[in-house]
Amino acid sequence: MAGSAWAICCLLGSLLFHVGSPSPGPSPSVPRLRLSYRDLLAANRSAVFLGPRGSLDLQVMYLDEYRDRLFLGGRDALYSLRLDQAWPDPREVLWPPQPGQKVECVRKGKDPLTECANFVRVLQPHNRTHVLACGTGAFQPICTFVTVGHRGEHVLHLDPSSVENGRGRCPHEPSRPFASTFVGGELYTGLTADFLGREAMIFRSGGPRPALRSDSDQRLLQDPRFVMAARIPDNSDRDDDKVYFFFSETVPSPDGGPGHVTVSRVGRVCVNDAGGQRVLVNKWSTFLKARLVCSVPGPGGAETHFDQLEDVFLLWPKAGKSLEVYALFSTISAVFQGFAVCVYHMVDIWEVFNGPFAHRDGPQHQWGPYGGKVPFPRPGVCPSKMTAQPGRPFGSTKDYPDEVLQFVRDHPLMFQPVRPRRGRPVLVKTHLAQQLRQIVVDRVEAEDGVYDVIFLGTDSGSVLKVIALQGSGLTEPEEVVLEELQVFKVPTPITEMEISVKRQTLYVGSPLGVVRLQLHQCETYGSACAECCLARDPYCAWDGSSCARYRPSSGKRRFRRQDIRHGNPAVQCLGQGQSQNKEASGLVTRVFGTEHNSTFLECLPKSPQAAVHWFLQRPGDKGTDQVKTDERVVQTAQGLLFRRLSRLDAGNYTCTTLEHGFSQTVVRFALEVIAAAQLDSLFLREPRLEAPSAWGSLASASPKAWYKDILQLTGFANLPRVDEYCERVWCRGVGERSGSFRGKGKQAKGKSWAGLELGKKMKSRVQAEHNRTPREVEAT
Ligand SMILES: *[C@@H]1O[C@H](CO)[C@@H](O)[C@H](O)[C@H]1NC(C)=O
Ligand SMILES: *[C@@H]1O[C@H](CO)[C@@H](O)[C@H](O)[C@H]1NC(C)=O
Ligand SMILES: *[C@@H]1O[C@H](CO)[C@@H](O)[C@H](O)[C@H]1NC(C)=O
Ligand SMILES: *[C@@H]1O[C@H](CO)[C@@H](O)[C@H](O)[C@H]1NC(C)=O
Repeated sequence: MAGSAWAICCLLGSLLFHVGSPSPGPSPSVPRLRLSYRDLLAANRSAVFLGPRGSLDLQVMYLDEYRDRLFLGGRDALYSLRLDQAWPDPREVLWPPQPGQKVECVRKGKDPLTECANFVRVLQPHNRTHVLACGTGAFQPICTFVTVGHRGEHVLHLDPSSVENGRGRCPHEPSRPFASTFVGGELYTGLTADFLGREAMIFRSGGPRPALRSDSDQRLLQDPRFVMAARIPDNSDRDDDKVYFFFSETVPSPDGGPGHVTVSRVGRVCVNDAGGQRVLVNKWSTFLKARLVCSVPGPGGAETHFDQLEDVFLLWPKAGKSLEVYALFSTISAVFQGFAVCVYHMVDIWEVFNGPFAHRDGPQHQWGPYGGKVPFPRPGVCPSKMTAQPGRPFGSTKDYPDEVLQFVRDHPLMFQPVRPRRGRPVLVKTHLAQQLRQIVVDRVEAEDGVYDVIFLGTDSGSVLKVIALQGSGLTEPEEVVLEELQVFKVPTPITEMEISVKRQTLYVGSPLGVVRLQLHQCETYGSACAECCLARDPYCAWDGSSCARYRPSSGKRRFRRQDIRHGNPAVQCLGQGQSQNKEASGLVTRVFGTEHNSTFLECLPKSPQAAVHWFLQRPGDKGTDQVKTDERVVQTAQGLLFRRLSRLDAGNYTCTTLEHGFSQTVVRFALEVIAAAQLDSLFLREPRLEAPSAWGSLASASPKAWYKDILQLTGFANLPRVDEYCERVWCRGVGERSGSFRGKGKQAKGKSWAGLELGKKMKSRVQAEHNRTPREVEAT
């Protein structure tokens, strides 16, 4: 019984916490469905890999869809997992720091546990058989080529003799923000390349060409936090290919005022940059950067800026369309914590780089557009057909006039910032319990259009699945949080997220390990058309008999019902059968309460976005009335609480939910009130009790006898059946049948709780065997 008391007290704690709050109405940022770690595992929606030691110290992840492998870099180790099989069959290769380096690292004052190990931070495809891996090497970066085998093989092998110095290719620290990409046999990195972590640069190395780096004297990069690097072709001319870097910088206040501000940037270099001949030798001669703006207009013209770049996802389009850059930002304000997702079209980024350069006459002056003559070739452009025309012999950056190189050195910043599409974020999240760390986007074709499903990784080991519905014109997008998925058992920051559209799977990494997560599991939404429709999940549609994956090309077209934009089952599901709660709405749970005591009727709608309404049919009444709540009768997020039961409260109670104009019955109760006088007489007959006290002691005195008495009092005719019922409900250990109600965690576990003890003031018991639908029971 100790367990039950605990469960009850916790349930109460949360209950009382909600007392006084208005009835829960639809709130867009509340996920429509919450799935716990156990729910996901039980439904085969996720699978977890934590390595042989229970934690990987994961730093980097490389999804190789060509080889059907997932490569992981951890602490002193590399892993390879096959994607075409269930999780098992991992390969592990140990890769500790170079001999003696660990001791050296500790001697230099670094932490033996969190710093003096080889944290693998680079995993990039090299050729058909090898992957480039680099690690911090206990503060002495190292790189090597790892044999991974041809496609179809599952090999992971590291030759310790092939390990080489990795300086410039990997940071010294495991924690410092860092970005890398592998293009044409060369590794591009954005990092701090020295022991002290002060020398910030963009670095290219690994090919036959001499390594190229940023000019450190110029303060081209100011305290950068690199987030992502990728090659993005500007057009079909491969000579024009550039590597783009996304990062944040901390710069002196732009208006010349005191202090520093954080701004986010997109920067780029030409793949065919070879540095200058006299100026900028072995330094980038094409580096330019621009500001990325993500802000919300506020009242009176003041804007709320989201300036700290957290993560970037590139949504590669179908042929002929411009690449879209999804960026997740946070605020750095001390007063409020918020996150925003902005979408930039690559054409808008190009336009800014083709626009005016930023210029100012001195550190104390304002920035303005550069108004003078811009030399040819235009600073920042790659040597290509455009620059190498007859009479314009600029086939390499080494041929560029000094004037051009000087200009690009002095004007690396563009004047115009890059603004997001529609001038505002597609998603803004404030007052979140968690922080957002990672973003992945999937463009999904649905019955009524194309939707971008946004997956957001939090710092508490969960993933939010969100769509932002764009209204017409400049109206704010409507946010629909479809699911909140607790993929890790314990809170841990999500640091890596990769999507395989082919496999409809998300790979989610945290320092602990990796989780494979299915993007959708339509049957979770329920077995009725209305539930499927209310889910508004672009992946799912009602196919006439179940909620299933929507496939635009498949047949059975006329059967498919889906309404992402409005989630209106009344229109979509006409004649498609009623809700799964058909059984539940017919079933009535008998509940007994004692006069003057408190009683609780539980109603947990599946969707927290639904508005809950209670209706009462009093004995003898034909119709039902909405329950009037006041200080005595309180509607909480979990149900209806009677602080002090009156005989007039008896009757049939119906809990219904309303969502998008669609009403469903969740539970029905027949509440019977036992008159205080009847109880008193019962207590007097009980010899072992001096005075009527807590029901708890009553129960422990003779658990079987007392409830029979009460049942007799309430006038049950069919005592043997009731007896059996009570045996089940009251006289069993709570733990036995306990199950977690979806997403409610501990609070609602032990649904067969034998009662509700309200401590000294409220001594009462409520018996309620909840009619959970069979599906819910299975899911526990
Ligand atoms: C979950 O997946 C495993 C392996 O793919 C399979 O053996 C098992 O039957 C699945 N379980 C359910 C409930 O689908
Ligand atoms: C891949 O690169 C590694 C390391 O440079 C080299 O040893 C190997 O022969 C290459 N394999 C192929 C198939 O080119
Ligand atoms: C409550 O519902 C039950 C079952 O539907 C019915 O038999 C009973 O008469 C109802 N009681 C009241 C007070 O309406
Ligand atoms: C609960 O019921 C008992 C028995 O009728 C009564 O003595 C007690 O005062 C009631 N408790 C409250 C809080 O009203």
